[in-house]
Amino acid sequence: MEMEKVVVVVFALSVVLLLGLAQSFDFHEKELETEESLWNLYERWRSHHTVSRDLEEKNKRFNVFKENVKGIHEFNKKDEPYKLRLNKFADMTNHEFRATYAGSKVRHHTMFRGTSGATEGFMYENVSIPASIDWRTKGAVTPVKDQGQCGSCWAFSTVVGVEGINQIKTKKLTSLSEQQLVDCDTSVNEGCNGGLMDYAYDFIKSNGGLTTEANYPYTAQDGSCDKSKLISSLKVTIDGYQDVPANNENALMKAVANQPVSVAIEASGFGFQFYSEGVLTGYCGTELDHGVGVVGYGTALDGTKYWIVKNSWGDSWGEKGYIRMARGIKASHGICGIAMEPSYPLKTSKNPSEEEVSSLKDEL
Ligand SMILES: *[C@@H]1O[C@H](CO)[C@@H](O)[C@H](O)[C@H]1NC(C)=O
Repeated sequence: MEMEKVVVVVFALSVVLLLGLAQSFDFHEKELETEESLWNLYERWRSHHTVSRDLEEKNKRFNVFKENVKGIHEFNKKDEPYKLRLNKFADMTNHEFRATYAGSKVRHHTMFRGTSGATEGFMYENVSIPASIDWRTKGAVTPVKDQGQCGSCWAFSTVVGVEGINQIKTKKLTSLSEQQLVDCDTSVNEGCNGGLMDYAYDFIKSNGGLTTEANYPYTAQDGSCDKSKLISSLKVTIDGYQDVPANNENALMKAVANQPVSVAIEASGFGFQFYSEGVLTGYCGTELDHGVGVVGYGTALDGTKYWIVKNSWGDSWGEKGYIRMARGIKASHGICGIAMEPSYPLKTSKNPSEEEVSSLKDEL
């Protein structure tokens, strides 16, 4: 009997290993030696990521790819606490990458932040902080999503916060709709052209909730608001939001200890574009251009402290879609500005029941 169990475990492990191998894309130093071997590497990368390019485009992109591969290779030779990887962004210039994936103009919107509707105070001011927390293990985090070529990170960041507090309050994890925010929250936020989480929280509150991912699925493009989806039993309500005191990682820890938190960061650097694994410790500034969700924090075996950050670039990026970012750096704004503008949704009211929604429908 014992023997059988062992066999099963070994088999399961090797399946996991095989799957893991199938997913990662590695290259050998030798492949960087000649123009021809680099071209072959490019072709191998394209087929791995099923990227099709016409010939002219391919020639142009090959040059970008070469630069990126060499940059990644040089970086990985250094003794840094994190590694880079030739991922799906490998034939995009940093400029293009920035425009599409980290171009959410968070900064542009933040000048209005003072006028938005945050509830005053900081409810977690006096809470004690555990040494570590990971909301994924507590069932408060949905699988990693992919924003595609649409600057809607702000919607994904907002949804991490709402899915989190909803699970904490109701014990039910429900994947919620980014697309409803992209299409319907348009008074200040700008769909695929960017937005800010605080406004999205305002919208969800005044809209009477946010519907489910299944009811209003993601399309990665701007669309017209499907108003019929605003009245639905499939939704989660919030009662506003609060800003975490700015530039205070200790305050951010208190908030994250209690629920997943939305943060704005600068994510347009080379290190972010090709991040693979480890704790990101530098090479970014504070030009906030991307919204993500902090779903925990901890300390690595070597003592490096980190935040656990859920990104929205699919699960092939980084650590299965997540990045660990240094915590407790000298600058009070935190790594990549992570402590500059955190906020989290408030939830005291119950989600509407079927009956409540159908009576609402009758009134209309
Ligand atoms: C935290 O404690 C201080 C001092 O006791 C108190 O004035 C403040 O209201 C408390 N804050 C919250 C959010 O409970």
